[in-house]
Amino acid sequence: MATRVQITYSPNLFGEIVAGMDKKQVINDTEDYVINELSGESSGHDWWHVYRVRNNAMEIAKSEKGADLFVVELAALLHDIADYKLHGGDTTIGPKTARKWLNSKNVEKDVTNHVVKIIEEIDFKGAGVKSVPTTLEGKIVQDADKLDAIGAIGIARTFAFGGKFGAEIYNPGVKPVLHKSFKAYKNSKGGPVINHFYEKLLLLKDRMNTKSAKRIAIARHKYMEDFLKRFYDEWDGRS
Ligand code: ADP
Ligand code: NI
Repeated sequence: MATRVQITYSPNLFGEIVAGMDKKQVINDTEDYVINELSGESSGHDWWHVYRVRNNAMEIAKSEKGADLFVVELAALLHDIADYKLHGGDTTIGPKTARKWLNSKNVEKDVTNHVVKIIEEIDFKGAGVKSVPTTLEGKIVQDADKLDAIGAIGIARTFAFGGKFGAEIYNPGVKPVLHKSFKAYKNSKGGPVINHFYEKLLLLKDRMNTKSAKRIAIARHKYMEDFLKRFYDEWDGRS
């Protein structure tokens, strides 16, 4: 079982209860819900991905003035509750599932709407498509999610995803495709796993929204470049 991240939400007149909503309880229940839904998932969208994204997000939020930590934590926990790639390409199922859960917990409408909007906005949509979330909280959660797509963990997740969906490791005859629209990205059958580095992973460093994520991304990016160099060296028998 994961350790719980300790966040103190500022008490108001009614202690921690805001408009019938106990924030700590909502977070704990949401964490249990996500553990239950995503534990054991094998394409890299499992509970431990969410756990790392939540921790990354809370770290980044500490350096960004004025972020609503409750919104950041809820959005990080729920961002992959029903990913379209694992649900027949349906991009509405994630936001809908999150809304249903938050409604069942009587979370304030404003908070629910904001969390759902973040889930709608944070996905990578293709090499040629800009997708910058409209709020600070969305930017933070997107950065946290992107950080988990690069570096050693990013490499591991990408090969896990490729294996699960039947992709080759590498095929020098198949070139990467820089998708110009979300539709093209979403509908692409997916080439060899190495191509995904060029189609997405190596582009993420320059798309970070916050300074603190950018700093972490630089080292993770370098690690992927070193990995690819070594991969080609071994492939061609140079080392
Ligand atoms: P985001 O949360 O940024 O939208 P995704 O959910 O699309 O990211 O992807 C999460 C991770 O799943 C990627 O970083 C990668 O590791 C893996 N993945 C997604 N699509 C592919 C693919 N076509 N080939 C290999 N790995 C993939
Ligand atoms: Ni994610």
